[in-house]
Amino acid sequence: MYKNVIYTILRNEPLTDAVWRLVLEGDTQWITRPGQFVDIALEGRFLRRPISVCDADERTVTLIYKVVGEGTRQMAAMQPGERLDLLTGLGNGFDTAKAAAHTLLVGGGVGVPPLYGLAKALLAASRRVTVVLGFNTAAEIFYADEFERLGCTTVVATADGSRGVKGFVTTAIAERVPDFGYFYACGPLPMLRALCDTVEQEGQLSFEERMGCGFGACMGCSCRTKQGTKRVCKEGPVFEKSEVIW
Ligand SMILES: Cc1cc2nc3c(=O)[nH]c(=O)nc-3n(C[C@H](O)[C@H](O)[C@H](O)COP(=O)(O)OP(=O)(O)OC[C@H]3O[C@@H](n4cnc5c(N)ncnc54)[C@H](O)[C@@H]3O)c2cc1C
Ligand code: FES
Repeated sequence: MYKNVIYTILRNEPLTDAVWRLVLEGDTQWITRPGQFVDIALEGRFLRRPISVCDADERTVTLIYKVVGEGTRQMAAMQPGERLDLLTGLGNGFDTAKAAAHTLLVGGGVGVPPLYGLAKALLAASRRVTVVLGFNTAAEIFYADEFERLGCTTVVATADGSRGVKGFVTTAIAERVPDFGYFYACGPLPMLRALCDTVEQEGQLSFEERMGCGFGACMGCSCRTKQGTKRVCKEGPVFEKSEVIW
């Protein structure tokens, strides 16, 4: 169930040239699973901006966003103490009950943030967690140290080879992660598709599609699955590998 909640900005700080971390204080009881998202109202903008929950506790929620256009540029200019109007607790989130004893998390670019809360939940459930994080270049890397500090085995891949394994996440998995029983992934569509084509294990994929309303009313985010058309914002953003039609 989602709720409209006003949060107060505690921190809003850059992690890289383009990626920012926003820490908000407010009622977090509606966030019940890793992989859910919030939809942020911005002054002067008709559509809200959907951003995955990176982490949440009883009083705070952490979001990580990349500045790509007008809305996210507006967010980066916001200061501690300012208020933000959010729809919170949106989406189905990851089903952690399906994780294996050794579970792989795969994130590409701004697909990385929701995997952080997921890693915490899996480690708390005594799973061994390996994380493979893919970026274009070393300057774009964020949160690799944070995953290490949690206790995950962390492998970084960069497309240009400036840090970690040279290549894509699929290269890093083939070279460095010989055994895992199940996976969770979030990132660009080509990455998700390549992953499903190359690993035989089952898993869950989070789709960060373009959205309109964000809560199931406009059908602006429809995608085809083996069970028929589903809305990414309502029945997703997380789907089983086995149900997706590419
Ligand atoms: C479920 C979900 C989770 C997401 N989580 C994250 C996250 O954790 N971190 C992050 O950096 N980005 C995330 N995104 C993408 C993020 O919503 C867009 O980058 C952001 O809305 C761009 O807004 P803008 O005004 O700066 O860009 P503009 O291009 O100016 O936006 C114009 C319009 O298009 C929409 N839009 C543009 N790109 C996207 C996109 N990729 N997905 C959905 N709507 C888009 C905007 O919401 C806005 O309504 C997520 C998207 C979805 C659907
Ligand atoms: S964005 Fe409106 S139904 Fe999904």
